[in-house]
Amino acid sequence: MEFASRISKLKESATFKYSAMAKREGIIDLTIGRTNFDTPMVIKEAAKKALDEGKVHYTPTRGIPELREKIVEKLRDENSISDLDKERVIVSTGAKQIILEAVMALINENDPVAIPDPSWVSYESIVKFSGGKIIWLPLSAENGFIPDEKFFSVFENSNSRLIFLNSPNNPTGAVYPKKVIRSIVDIAERRDSWIISDEIYEKLIYEGKHFSAGSIYPKCIVVNGFSKEFSMTGWRLGYAACSEKELIDKMNLIQGQSVSCATSFAQYGALAAFTEEAKKETEKMRDELKKRRDYLMKRLNEMDVLCIKPKGAFYTFPSLGEIDDIKFSDRLLENGVAVIPGSPFGSSGKGCVRMSYGAASIEELKNAMDKMRDIK
Ligand SMILES: Cc1ncc(COP(=O)(O)O)c(C=O)c1O
Repeated sequence: MEFASRISKLKESATFKYSAMAKREGIIDLTIGRTNFDTPMVIKEAAKKALDEGKVHYTPTRGIPELREKIVEKLRDENSISDLDKERVIVSTGAKQIILEAVMALINENDPVAIPDPSWVSYESIVKFSGGKIIWLPLSAENGFIPDEKFFSVFENSNSRLIFLNSPNNPTGAVYPKKVIRSIVDIAERRDSWIISDEIYEKLIYEGKHFSAGSIYPKCIVVNGFSKEFSMTGWRLGYAACSEKELIDKMNLIQGQSVSCATSFAQYGALAAFTEEAKKETEKMRDELKKRRDYLMKRLNEMDVLCIKPKGAFYTFPSLGEIDDIKFSDRLLENGVAVIPGSPFGSSGKGCVRMSYGAASIEELKNAMDKMRDIK
C-alpha cells in the first residue's frame, strides 16, 4: 500500500513502545512517563461538577477564557512573565499537541531546528514531520547533561530558526541553571531564533530553582501543562503562552482545523489546579518522588555507574559505559525489569538507560536494582 511520504518521517514513540512491552505479569516497570499518584480530588470534583452542569459542548478553540486568565496570572506570579494576556495563551489536548502546533506554525521545509542531544523523543519526530532539518546540540553525561561550550558553539553556528529547551529535563532529570538559560537566550537573540521552552516538569524540582526563558525573551513559546504536576496524563490538557500574539493566532488556526478544542469538562476541572489544595498535593507527591530518587541514586552509586544526581523530573539517566543500551534493556526486560534504552533519545544517549521512578515504589526500585546489579 502507498502512503503519503510525510508518514515515513514519523517513528513510533520509543517510550510508548517500551511501556507496552512492560505490561507483562511480574515486570517491574521503570518506563513510565507519569507518576502513580491520583489527580487531586479538588480537580476531579470540579470536572464532575462541570459535567453535571452540562458543560459538555465545544469551547472556544483557544480554551475557556477563565482558564486562560488563570494561566496568565500563574505565568506572571510564578515565572515573572509579565507581557501576557489571555489572547496570548492557548490551551490544547496536551503539551505534545501544543508543540506540534508551534512547530507546524513556524517551520518551513528544511528550516534548521536545534534540539539538545539527548532529548524527549517527540521533538525529533515532530520536527521531521513538519519538514524541519535537525541540528543536534551535543550534551555529555560528564557535564550532567547541562549545556556547555560545545553545545553553545554548535547552536551559535547553526542558523537555527528554533531551539528546544526543556528544564527540568526528560530524559536526564537535569535542571538548567539560570546563567545557562541566559546564555541560550543570548544566542537566540543574536540569531533571531524562536525558543520553545518546555516547562512541563517545572514543579518537580528537588534542588535548584526553575527559571523560565519566557521571562527574558519575547520570541519564547512557554509550554506547560497539567499532565505531570497534577498526575493528569489521561486528561490531555496542556498550554502555551507567547507574547508574540500572532504566533498564538496561527497555532489556534491549526487547532481549529484539527482537535477543535481541549475537552470541555477537563478544562473546567483544571481551574481547580490553581487552588492551594491542589498545589499541596503536588508538594506531597514531590516529597515522595525525592525519596525514590535518593534511593535510586544510592543504589546506582553503589554499582559505580556514572549518573549525575538528577535535580528534577522523575527520571535517572545512568551511563553504563561501552554497552549496547538496546541489548542491555532487552536483557534487563528478560530478567523482569523494563527501562528505556538511551539511544532513541539521541546519539549522546548511547550507552545510557532511562529509568522512571514516577510510578515505582521503593520496594519495586529495590527489586529492580538487585536484578540490574546481578546482570551488569
Ligand atoms: C518533556 C515533555 N514534554 C511534553 C510531554 C507531553 O505532555 P502532555 O501529556 O501534556 O502531552 C512530555 C510527556 O512525557 C514530556 O516528557
